[in-house]
Amino acid sequence: MADGAKILILNGPNLNMLGIREPSIYGSDTLADIEHRCVAHAKAIGLSIDFRQSNIEGELVTWIQNCRTTHHGVIINAAAFTHTSVAILDALSLIDRPVIEVHLSNILARESFRHHSYISPVAVGVICGFGWRGYTLALDAIKDILGKG
Ligand code: DQA
Repeated sequence: MADGAKILILNGPNLNMLGIREPSIYGSDTLADIEHRCVAHAKAIGLSIDFRQSNIEGELVTWIQNCRTTHHGVIINAAAFTHTSVAILDALSLIDRPVIEVHLSNILARESFRHHSYISPVAVGVICGFGWRGYTLALDAIKDILGKG
């Protein structure tokens, strides 16, 4: 199932502050700018998206749990929870849906505590370092994955 597939795009803590948050690292686009680009790109390639952000770990966990019956795949930038959250790893492990991990910055070129991701082991792949383009690249990738499934 690729055409018309519904994709959940999740954003973790502090990503609501994009635009004013460390623009030299994260760029000057706001999260709303990124959402608009994702909506336009998803439409162009025949996907529909549900774009959400939360600063609360448990809210992200609940959204991931619930998506197993409502969405065909997940794109997640878990932000700082990437490096800390076994709960998000466990939720992603139970949904039986393809997961793509995205980061705006190249986490491997930054502080060593950002080099470990709890999410990567359950992700089909990781896209980092391309800014907002990582999200649209992830949409292209998830469309291909769902088309093969
Ligand atoms: C981030 C990288 C994380 O290390 C950081 O905690 C974030 C954003 C990124 O998109 O580059 O909040 O996920």
